[in-house]
Amino acid sequence: MSSVVVARGLVKRFGNLTAVDHIDFNIEQGEVFGFLGPNGAGKSTIIRMIQCVSPVTSGSLKVLNMDVQKQPREIKARLGVAPQDDNLDPDFSVLQNLTSYARYFNMPKDLANQRANELLEFMQLEEKRNTMIDDLSGGMKRRLIVARALINDPDIIILDEPTTGLDPQARHLIWERIRQLKQEGSTVILTTHYMDEAEQLCDRLVIMEHGRFLIEGKPRQMISDIVGDCVMEIVGADDEAEEYLRSTGKQVERSADRLYLYSNECRNIERDFQELYPKSQSIIRSSTMEDVFLRLTGRRLRE
Ligand SMILES: Nc1ncnc2c1ncn2[C@@H]1O[C@H](COP(=O)(O)OP(=O)(O)O)[C@@H](O)[C@H]1O
Ligand SMILES: [Mg+2]
Repeated sequence: MSSVVVARGLVKRFGNLTAVDHIDFNIEQGEVFGFLGPNGAGKSTIIRMIQCVSPVTSGSLKVLNMDVQKQPREIKARLGVAPQDDNLDPDFSVLQNLTSYARYFNMPKDLANQRANELLEFMQLEEKRNTMIDDLSGGMKRRLIVARALINDPDIIILDEPTTGLDPQARHLIWERIRQLKQEGSTVILTTHYMDEAEQLCDRLVIMEHGRFLIEGKPRQMISDIVGDCVMEIVGADDEAEEYLRSTGKQVERSADRLYLYSNECRNIERDFQELYPKSQSIIRSSTMEDVFLRLTGRRLRE
């Protein structure tokens, strides 16, 4: 495998604030790589440095074997970026937003038109071809921003929170398309604060907070390493029942009146527990990325 993005000791400061704090990562050709973290974690700042629109404060960042500080134009030509914020041109129609964007890449007009129409079909926007931007729903705008990111047939596709605020249908269409792009061999870099999205889509991901990585790995492996394969959720446990659960030696957490027990052997534990404490109610479910996140960052509210 070859790395298409390599960061070493990467730092970004805004005045006194260190938004990205000495991070190292490699993103490999053909993978879907995710930056997962709450608002303000530094995800967009990393994306903007990769995109060569925000200068690196210190450390090194290479994209497609080129230094972002030395060859920004060459790098930009080979990236497709869907930024977090809607920056579509409201004076243009849907189709014109794509064709005018194609001009940045010096695409011949015919090719730009053909490509734009293909992409409108790909993102299920062909019926909106001549609609003005202000008349699109939020989901349609997101889809158009993703379509626009693909206009130059990029080597690396960067999607900054592509599904935030979307309804389930729009979200699933974008998920399907990301999977399809990966199957076609594209490298996709994704940021999200949705744990399930990261778990479903990413080959590898980092969980970040305050500009640092808390953990890096493959989603299923991370879940199994950090919290085990299943979670038993218990309500109505008195102190004695809680003490019993803790005595199993498994990770047990309390949040309000609910207990969480993380393990690989939930079934056996639940069977014994139910016999001893029949008044408590419990369910067993598969563990998720959200459990990993809460385990690492705690359940208290931040901000
Ligand atoms: N242009 C900027 N000037 C000052 N602070 C910024 C700027 N851009 C981002 N920040 C700050 O850097 C931190 C990381 O922001 P950001 O990368 O946008 O986080 P995320 O995308 O994970 O929500 C935040 O505290 C944010 O307020
Ligand atoms: Mg962001």
